[in-house]
Amino acid sequence: MLDVSEIQTFEHDVLVIGAGGAGLRAAIECSNRGMNTGLMCKSLLGKAHTVMAEGGVAAALGNVDRRDNWKVHFRDTMRGGKFLNQWRMAELHAREAPDRVRELEEWGAVFDRTTEGLISQRNFGGHRYPRLAHVGDRTGLEMIRTLQDQAVLKGFGIYMECTALQLLLGGRQIAGVLGYWRESGRFVLFRARAVVLATGGGGRAWRITSNSWEYTGDGYAMAYEAGAQLMDMEFTQFHPTGMVWPPSVRGILVTEGVRGDGGVLLNSKRERFMFRYIPEKFSVETAASEEEANRWLKGDKTARRPPELLTRDVVARAITQEVNEGRGSPHGGVFLDIASRLPAETIRRKLPSMYHQFKELAEVDITREPMEVGPTLHYFMGGARVDSDTQMTTVPGLFAAGEAAAGMHGANRLGGNSLSDLLVFGRLSGIGAAQYVRGLGHVPRVEEDAVRAAVRRATEVLNRDTGTNPYAVHEDLQGVMGRYVGIVRAEGDLKIALVELERLKADAARVRAPGASQYNAAWHEALDLRALLVTAEAVTRAALVRQESRGAHTRVDYPGERQEWQNMNVIVRRGKDGRMETEVERRQEPPKTLAAIAYATIEDLEANRV
Ligand code: FUM
Repeated sequence: MLDVSEIQTFEHDVLVIGAGGAGLRAAIECSNRGMNTGLMCKSLLGKAHTVMAEGGVAAALGNVDRRDNWKVHFRDTMRGGKFLNQWRMAELHAREAPDRVRELEEWGAVFDRTTEGLISQRNFGGHRYPRLAHVGDRTGLEMIRTLQDQAVLKGFGIYMECTALQLLLGGRQIAGVLGYWRESGRFVLFRARAVVLATGGGGRAWRITSNSWEYTGDGYAMAYEAGAQLMDMEFTQFHPTGMVWPPSVRGILVTEGVRGDGGVLLNSKRERFMFRYIPEKFSVETAASEEEANRWLKGDKTARRPPELLTRDVVARAITQEVNEGRGSPHGGVFLDIASRLPAETIRRKLPSMYHQFKELAEVDITREPMEVGPTLHYFMGGARVDSDTQMTTVPGLFAAGEAAAGMHGANRLGGNSLSDLLVFGRLSGIGAAQYVRGLGHVPRVEEDAVRAAVRRATEVLNRDTGTNPYAVHEDLQGVMGRYVGIVRAEGDLKIALVELERLKADAARVRAPGASQYNAAWHEALDLRALLVTAEAVTRAALVRQESRGAHTRVDYPGERQEWQNMNVIVRRGKDGRMETEVERRQEPPKTLAAIAYATIEDLEANRV
């Protein structure tokens, strides 16, 4: 029998899993509060999806348009989320985002400036005013750089290239995490009084995704297996603009900043098709003609916003429809044109990464030619269900922040709200975890049988003589999710997906990665499959339950939002028999003051009547 005391062991008050923006911000906060803090990450420090939020961080600083304030940001976020957001989270986010951005600046982030020397802000979809503080089109990267500097200054324990395999409980409480070093394949045990999941999303369950290899839904699966509830998993965001050509780069993000700075979407007939897809309820604030959209871009405050700046769910669906109806670009996308809108020099200055990305990867000069773009799986609005103020999940001692947590964005996230989310809720999860640890009466002990079982489960894969190839199973899964759980869904397809997922689970239970655990990439792939499959099943089951179309979840068989679903969240949890269960739960009623802001007219908000 494995002697658990022989496994390399570290002890922390709080262990944060994930070193993107949310994880770094959480760990900094824990450390500030005197916690013995550890931070583990699957990849290298700062190699995180945070850098894929390129165009900016949303915060109502009011630097470019003085009319902006937290209430308008809150209202935009609720409207963008189709009013399914957790009210309190959206409030906290809108109120605290400006302070978090200023704090980042104090820590050394170098934002682009206005002519008056203030932090510059750009337009983005669904945001009423220019609100995205940015660093060219590398905002996430600059944020990570700044947070990393702070983390290194704090001097807490950082464990890189270390994958978390399983959360460990002591009774019902969190007691630690079992992981393994990717390089040596050796197991490592973290004893911790609290754990913060900041593991990002699970985009790798789809083939066309902006997510890199790390994003296999690890946090969702670990939380679920530890008994936590997942919520809103049906809402997976397809960013409208990923690269479509060449095949090797399909899915890589093309920042919304291109459209924020005036880029337009065109079909194969060179029509600016977004004018045909303006939803009724956004018609009062969206330009009805090119002439009006152009005036808006030049700063005419009487003109309305271009339709390319509608929310992501709307734009992604419009592109899909154009392609499906035969008006797509040669490689199955549409055209995004900035070349005819801005001088070459301005494009290179404002969008340097996009310029180089297309030049180097697609041999396209975006200052002269349009880009070919199409939807790419980018973000999960769902995740672990958390308390809005503390970010604690339904498992005592387990916290979640950023994309790992549900609730902030409702049915659809506005661009730029992820960077502010991870700053605001990264910090709050750190505060929540520190408070929890201080209030703990006793130190929960890791159940050693669970450690042994987890090690056995992980190593079985190495010892099988026959079995399936984990890469083939992963590719199969991506095909299933792309075909049956894509932008547009239907009951029949979702049911097929569930049957296919059962087959894939059986395949995954038989995968083999022969050889030692050292430098064994197939073993890593095999271990990731478990999380990918839990994530895929949670999305599919939740998508089947929600019989309406709202935000990023579109059901052809249930078109349009339905009143009876307005306040309902789909909860996913592990049942007593070990099978995945879903339940529909009514969301808490909002305080009257928040409801008044969310449903106010913009005129009332601007005139301070709400
Ligand atoms: O388009 C972008 O730059 C992505 C931003 C985001 O997802 O928030």
